[in-house]
Amino acid sequence: SERVLSLFQPTGDSFHLGNYLGALRQWASMQGEYETFFGIADLHSLNEQPDPEVLRHRVVRSAAQMIAGGIDPERSVLFLQSAVPEHTQLMWALSCYTGFGQASRMTQFKDKSERRGSETTNVGLFTYPVLMAADILLYQAHKVPVGEDQRQHLELTRDLAVRFNGRYGQTFVVPEPHIVKSVGRIVDLQDPTIKMSKSASSPTGLIELLDEPKVTAKKIRSAVTDSGREIVYDPENKPGVSNLLTIIAALRGTDVAAVAEELAGGGYGDLKKAAAQVVDELVVPFRARTFALLDDPAELQRILARGAERAREVASVTQVDVYRKLGLL
Ligand code: TYM
Repeated sequence: SERVLSLFQPTGDSFHLGNYLGALRQWASMQGEYETFFGIADLHSLNEQPDPEVLRHRVVRSAAQMIAGGIDPERSVLFLQSAVPEHTQLMWALSCYTGFGQASRMTQFKDKSERRGSETTNVGLFTYPVLMAADILLYQAHKVPVGEDQRQHLELTRDLAVRFNGRYGQTFVVPEPHIVKSVGRIVDLQDPTIKMSKSASSPTGLIELLDEPKVTAKKIRSAVTDSGREIVYDPENKPGVSNLLTIIAALRGTDVAAVAEELAGGGYGDLKKAAAQVVDELVVPFRARTFALLDDPAELQRILARGAERAREVASVTQVDVYRKLGLL
């Protein structure tokens, strides 16, 4: 069957609602139908030079949250990027085939390097998308479920695959991004012009899944709504209201038009109440499952070790093929 692959960066103490709706929930729903590989991009997160103790803690929490969010280690390969050396081995080869100009056009690099300034922008931030391409191409993934913000990186990956195949013969599956339009870009609760994100959102704009449920409820109550008082889905003119409608519809598993119609007669208070309720129904069991898993770190270690072993079986085949085609002995 076709393969699906995606990774999370272990950058915060908690996944946020954008990560869950845009990525994790899609991943979970693709299990069974596809051969699924889900990873923790611990090497990617080194570009932030995290404190080692903090990084270790976040990696373990990420694994627990992936399982709590529905990844079943029996049905999916759950692994750490750093435990599979083929990622960096392929990355080096791909970096020699990636144009400096093309890499320089990555908007995520431009945004982040601008925010950090040239003193603290490192080469790892620049080559980040090449490592991501290696993550994907190693597994011959057909589909990569991600949020809208990763689309350009997927385009680079596809481009590298097509060019490599053209030059050296069929080597890589050319992957398709799997981006669910309705939830591909959950926006910040305080500033609906930016995406909800660990790096750019203010603490009150970000719904963290491991927050105390009452903290989460408070953030939703203080979410910015828009001028006027009608509840309509109109992302252009009413981005705050539309974001809450999107969240409610996604978590109820209905479409946004139906939710907008149901709430049309009420006020913004009712809208927020409905949003707080569905989010509460998500986060209460999610937190409980995550913390229960964290109580048994030996079991998590065992799952990750087994995952790395299974990941390497697949990754090494591609890596050896690529090195051979490039003329490495
Ligand atoms: P990361 O860790 O920033 O985010 C994890 C996933 O969450 C999605 N996402 C969102 N979706 C909707 N609305 C939002 N506001 C939102 N914020 C984040 C992201 O698109 C992502 O799917 N570079 C990747 C990690 C990575 C990767 C890979 C992904 C490394 N190698 C290979 C796919 C394949 C990243 O930093 O995601």
